Amino acid sequence: MTEFSFPKNFLWGAATSAHQVEGNNVHSDWWAWEQAGRVQERSGLACDHYRRYKEDFDLAVSLGHNAHRFSIEWARIEPAEGAWNDEALTHYVDVVRALRERHLEPIVTLHHFTTPQWLVEQGGWLNPKIVHCFARYVERVAAALGDSVRYWITINEPLVYIRMHFIDGLGPPGLKNLKDALQVTRHLIYAHAAGYYALHGAPSMRHAPPRVSIAQHLPEFWPCRRWWPMDHWITSLTDQIFNHAFVDALRDGRWTVPGVATWELPEARQTLDFLGVNFYGRQFIRWKPMPQGWPGSSCDLAHHYPREVKERTSLGWDVHPPSFTHALSRWGHLGLPILVTENGTYMTDDARRWSYIRRHIQAMAQAIRRGAPVIGYCCWSLLDNFEWAQGYGPRFGIVNVDYATQRRTVRESGHRYADVCRRNAIELNSA
Ligand code: BGC
Repeated sequence: MTEFSFPKNFLWGAATSAHQVEGNNVHSDWWAWEQAGRVQERSGLACDHYRRYKEDFDLAVSLGHNAHRFSIEWARIEPAEGAWNDEALTHYVDVVRALRERHLEPIVTLHHFTTPQWLVEQGGWLNPKIVHCFARYVERVAAALGDSVRYWITINEPLVYIRMHFIDGLGPPGLKNLKDALQVTRHLIYAHAAGYYALHGAPSMRHAPPRVSIAQHLPEFWPCRRWWPMDHWITSLTDQIFNHAFVDALRDGRWTVPGVATWELPEARQTLDFLGVNFYGRQFIRWKPMPQGWPGSSCDLAHHYPREVKERTSLGWDVHPPSFTHALSRWGHLGLPILVTENGTYMTDDARRWSYIRRHIQAMAQAIRRGAPVIGYCCWSLLDNFEWAQGYGPRFGIVNVDYATQRRTVRESGHRYADVCRRNAIELNSA
């Protein structure tokens, strides 16, 4: 058995997002969506993290973390158009201070699936105005937080957001339309670029330049039926659209949708200082000629697994740590530092949760050995939380939350993960 030591100053932590943990996020589009009865369960008080953040950060410190990823809620900062809520801004200043006091490096996300409801009523991500609104919001946040934050994520999982909200209709505004999805993608690219320049241009950042990225969900796509050429074709097309197109646009200012067009978006060129990577597993793609939706979306990810898939999470997702090594290695070739902004799982059996996390950390270690420039790892999630359309059923936390009492209990997986964080090392070939 060999022990792998991670690079010095490696970031170890866990991630959350505002709407999923804070509670009473009443000015956001997700709140309105829930009140309209579009999901079975409402977020309500969630984990009451808006009030309990200090206690939660104490827990993170007790678990050996040295970093923490969270998101700022735009709908709290700007609950109505141009009406800035200073109290909410001050709240996030306090949150960052609380992290710094505990020696937890803050990793701040500016948009994690939720948008102010007033803006959505004006067309939201379909309205080009949103780019300017987003930049204005980021400027406010940058002025308030300044260089107390080094790592920034503008948009969480742009492609998952687009798919869930504009193709599958599972979140607000509940659209199912490829043309709209393309428009939204364009605005998200522009919004990221505008956010990037707002952060880099902020006078408050003069002394310590920010490091800015998106958090890109990077599944490894595999053909469902290896013998069927059409499955291979749709798989590489899906990889191009889902994994590459957005990142490429932020690298070279050129956005290509295969078979549709290429657009020059020079404003977006060179707007990644690092790459935030969210990784959950492999996804199998199966060709089925069905014009509606994303190409390949005809492969219902949870149901079309080939026989070789041996292990699944409690949500039915494939578990395949070698794909994580592969993803980190291939994205490492971009030459940007990689920060794993999310990796984790929902398993009803916590021993299996730890097995998943441990094997993925080992897979990450293998990627680093092969040269992938990984600088940190955030486990999803610190706390059990509101899993969007699936409500409170799935529990991703390394800390269990009793929603009736708001009592937190660290799971065994949380303790085991703490051991890795503290040692900054992991055994490589333990069973
Ligand atoms: C999202 C989180 C979500 C997690 C688990 C990620 O795609 O960023 O908001 O809770 O996956 O499904």
